[in-house]
Amino acid sequence: MQGRKMAAPARGKFELFESRPRDVETRLRELAGWGGLVISRGLATFLADLSMSRDTQQLRQLDKNHLWHPFTQMKDWCASEEDPLIISSGKGVMLTDSEGHSYLDGNSSIWTNVHGHRHPTIDAAIRSQLDQIAHCSALGFSNEPAILLAEKLVGLFPENTLTKVFFSDDGSTAIECACKMSIQYRQLKEETRRTRFVAFGGAYHGDTMGAASLGGIGVFQDRFASHGYPVQRVDTVEELEAIPDEDSDAVHAVIIEPLIQGAAGMRTWPVGMLRRIREWCDRVGAFLILDEVMTGFGRTGKMFACEHEEVIPDFLCLAKGLTGGYLPLAATLTHDRIYEAFLGEYEELKTFFYGHSYCANPLGCAAALGNLQVFEEEEVLERIQPVIEVFAEELEAAVERSPHFGALRRVGLIAGIDLVDAGTGAGLDWKAESGARVCRRARHYGLLTRPVRDTLTLMPPLAIEEGQVRSMVEALERSAEDVLGQ
Ligand SMILES: Cc1ncc(COP(=O)(O)O)c(C=O)c1O
Repeated sequence: MQGRKMAAPARGKFELFESRPRDVETRLRELAGWGGLVISRGLATFLADLSMSRDTQQLRQLDKNHLWHPFTQMKDWCASEEDPLIISSGKGVMLTDSEGHSYLDGNSSIWTNVHGHRHPTIDAAIRSQLDQIAHCSALGFSNEPAILLAEKLVGLFPENTLTKVFFSDDGSTAIECACKMSIQYRQLKEETRRTRFVAFGGAYHGDTMGAASLGGIGVFQDRFASHGYPVQRVDTVEELEAIPDEDSDAVHAVIIEPLIQGAAGMRTWPVGMLRRIREWCDRVGAFLILDEVMTGFGRTGKMFACEHEEVIPDFLCLAKGLTGGYLPLAATLTHDRIYEAFLGEYEELKTFFYGHSYCANPLGCAAALGNLQVFEEEEVLERIQPVIEVFAEELEAAVERSPHFGALRRVGLIAGIDLVDAGTGAGLDWKAESGARVCRRARHYGLLTRPVRDTLTLMPPLAIEEGQVRSMVEALERSAEDVLGQ
């Protein structure tokens, strides 16, 4: 059937849609025109069904019947009084739900979206790639968007630093990939004493077993503590530097979220710490793995957080914003020395036997090329500097004003504000779920975000405008007052 052109169907042939909304019919005619698609009766019904707006209550019930949501107590989610929000569209920094209410996307759809939703450049990049092919294997073949993207990513770093790119699917797999490369490198070089990673308290590096074992947040990690990588945990750079020499040569890599830890509640690191970690790694011969899954792509005010301290890691892990927040794609970047250790005759088995079905997915890579194009074309990093200033000023003023706001931590367009007891200034009982209740209330003021326990977090898309920054902070402040003020 493929490739057969269809003559424009007589209107009578669309009797299936006579009772459907007009835009469905228009859309089907477009599809027939663009793709040379033969629209059979079955396909027509399927497409019409896909485009049909369903009743929100029906969708909610179906969701409760069949979906298991991440990080969610499903007993609460499925409670009869609970009406889950169903997002049906987005434009710029705004999201719209199935009942037509609009909200500012205050956490960039869990830290992914960069230039706003439905950005014309990224939309066009994906559509254009879709006209070629959606997916083909990177195992045994290559594809143009992946090749061009790898070149572009390498070009974002000083020459001859990070030169090789390994694509995978998400933040967790980018981390797994760095860890496995690091472990295998030590084996190939017969550095058998180096057996453990150093990771930081409060860290979050993903949920696959290996990545989770590097994490330092009990609720995600404790149940699985007997599995995963051997990890030595430190809380500060001083603790790292205090590791005795006879122990430090057992470390094969240090992993850290540079400048700010997200899931720990937007915990910022002291200025200069990253540089000191790099120096320590160089001194003891350990690798440095930087997890820029959250901080990458402009969130901190520079393209990458490591640029703030002019540090180049041995492995750089990217995901979330890599595709502008459109599609799941991740990249682990490394340098020639590591790559070359894996070269050899086939029978030496030095090959990196690792990969995922969707590695270097062309659609994702096209989206990522679109993302980088927007950075260039719209001079995004320059444009956001005054917005970051307004963000900082508004947050500082809100913390000053509101008795419910305690410590504020911020880097670029990422912020966390601790909720506190208005009378004593002490932290709140986490079991009261105050952070979740405040964020829930914020919907009423047109803001969507999520807390980390009792830390309210904001991380809007870089496309946000100054006026929207003000409304966002005001929404959070009013919500805290409504929930905690009585
Ligand atoms: C710093 C960091 N690393 C890794 C991950 C895991 O990424 P993913 O959820 O795409 O697997 C996250 C996710 O929030 C993250 O914030």
